[in-house]
Amino acid sequence: MCGIVGAWLNEPGDGGVQALLVEGLRCLEYRGYDSSGLGIIQPDELIVRRRQGRLAKLESLLAESGDAPALLGIGHTRWATHGEPSDGNAHPHQDAGRRVALVHNGIIENYLDLRHEVEAAGIELQSATDTEVLTQIIGIELSKGSEPLEAVRSCLERVRGNYAIALVTREPKERLICARQGPPLCIAQSERGVFLASDVMALLPYTRQITFLEDGDIAELTRSKVSIIRLNGERVERAPRQVDWDAESADKQGYAHFMLKEIHEQPDVLARAFHGRIDVERGDVQLEGDSFSDAALSKMQRLQVTACGTALHAGYIAGYMVEGLARVPVDVDYASEFRYRNPKLSEGTYALGISQSGETADTLEALRLAIRLGAHGTCIVNSISSSMVRDCQGMISIEAGPEIGVASTKAFVAMLVASYLLAIRTARARGTVTAEAASQLLRDLRELRPKLSTLLSDERVAKVRAIAEHVVDSKGFLFLGRGINYPVALEGALKLKEISYVHAEGYPAGEMKHGPIALIEPGMTTLALAPKGRLAEKLRSNIEQVKARGGRVICVGSDPGCHAVSDEGLAVPDTNEWLSPILNVVPLQLLSYFIAELKGCDIDKPRNLAKSVTVE
Ligand code: F6R
Repeated sequence: MCGIVGAWLNEPGDGGVQALLVEGLRCLEYRGYDSSGLGIIQPDELIVRRRQGRLAKLESLLAESGDAPALLGIGHTRWATHGEPSDGNAHPHQDAGRRVALVHNGIIENYLDLRHEVEAAGIELQSATDTEVLTQIIGIELSKGSEPLEAVRSCLERVRGNYAIALVTREPKERLICARQGPPLCIAQSERGVFLASDVMALLPYTRQITFLEDGDIAELTRSKVSIIRLNGERVERAPRQVDWDAESADKQGYAHFMLKEIHEQPDVLARAFHGRIDVERGDVQLEGDSFSDAALSKMQRLQVTACGTALHAGYIAGYMVEGLARVPVDVDYASEFRYRNPKLSEGTYALGISQSGETADTLEALRLAIRLGAHGTCIVNSISSSMVRDCQGMISIEAGPEIGVASTKAFVAMLVASYLLAIRTARARGTVTAEAASQLLRDLRELRPKLSTLLSDERVAKVRAIAEHVVDSKGFLFLGRGINYPVALEGALKLKEISYVHAEGYPAGEMKHGPIALIEPGMTTLALAPKGRLAEKLRSNIEQVKARGGRVICVGSDPGCHAVSDEGLAVPDTNEWLSPILNVVPLQLLSYFIAELKGCDIDKPRNLAKSVTVE
């Protein structure tokens, strides 16, 4: 939800701060891409360049403008919340006196009140955004003689909402300031200067030592030091932390899209997610922290999972695993529903948030609510420097590395591995699975990597592409699954909708006859998730029902009986029931990728979406 960068260089180098800000925005474009802009301080003026559309449009504008290389500036890539995507609503916004330029990620809830305040001061607002209001208020404060940091602090004191902001001031002095209340912001200092960004990925070219702002922090950055105050003016220190992700992971490395690269990374991601955590001989799992000790887990009475989107689908699967193996009652809920339904949590509840970014606003708030209601807060996350990790007592890091494609793929697989580890650890702590049985479960996990690699062989990938060609013009898609593969059906449908813009629904196969079967007719494609096992025969009947009504069925799974009655098939190696989603989802990811490619869609940046959803 919008990407922010800022820099103050010691030397202009090639292209000055403009070039570095554009590079930073390229890393963050996944966060929003309907417009972008820069605000640059030149010796005697503040220059703002902004353009609706992709970053390339801004680059052309910058090339035409021929501005001299500068040292100090901010940049933004936008995902619109207030005001349509347009040049005028793009960030940065400037105050009437052109002293300050500001970029913002988030939503200012009381912006209408603040807007009236600005209008009452005789200022005519130039955009429909909530952001400009902040800019104008800071401008008013500066015009009254306030120091820049104090002008920002006093403005933010009046703001209700959720924001990360960065701004440059030209008068009374040149300053680079940023503040956080919700969406992430981090800072890096190196011999080249000082930098800030919404995501560490944009800072890794400069250093691995990163300072993460906390909610309520306001930071003033000069080339020699970073000073941080709280909203009440009190000074605080935030020590930098070492970040181990590398900048190359944010590269496509020869793949046409990040999504394809990330799908192909999955065997490695899977192995990383359990590396150093499983003890096959003892039949147990090591998870860091007291939350996952025998003593703590044996007191768990209930697990409440909350998440959004793909992470929620991982959450449903986690629910099947924990309930099935550890015999703990589990509830899984949309984070956005949980937080507004006045939930009642019983004693001994573990709250589990699942999130790639660790910054999804609804998941964060749902977890915070559960913790306020007495739950023990835990999370499964990719970004270990995220707010979610700070809020929780226990954390399982999925170790997937940066995920850039907006459609989540490798993070999903890694979330499933983390959930499997949690389920086995909980089961062992509670004695619901023997050491021998757990050993077998862990051996199955260890054997999964080559099976996953098989699914990504050139031949298998070509088969998925051929099927994509057969079904690309289908009227619609129905994804059917049973048991632990029902959430895989949901995930297959979500992937297809979000990147190909075709209608797709995921359904429990047994529920089809209660309504969705009316959709079946020639031209409609059904994907049936068919692992071998106790539910295969039932699924086979569902496939027959679709076929009897003229629907085309593509079988995805290891059950030969289901393949035999389907029109086409994508064979998947066999594994235990709990792990089958990890394999079954891969052909579905590839199928949506190829359908999107055949339709000419923008795969890594699907319309209307953004990677990190830091607004409600
Ligand atoms: C779908 C997708 C989204 C995210 C959702 C939660 O491909 O990426 O549905 O899964 O926005 O995001 P995180 O995992 O960052 O909380």
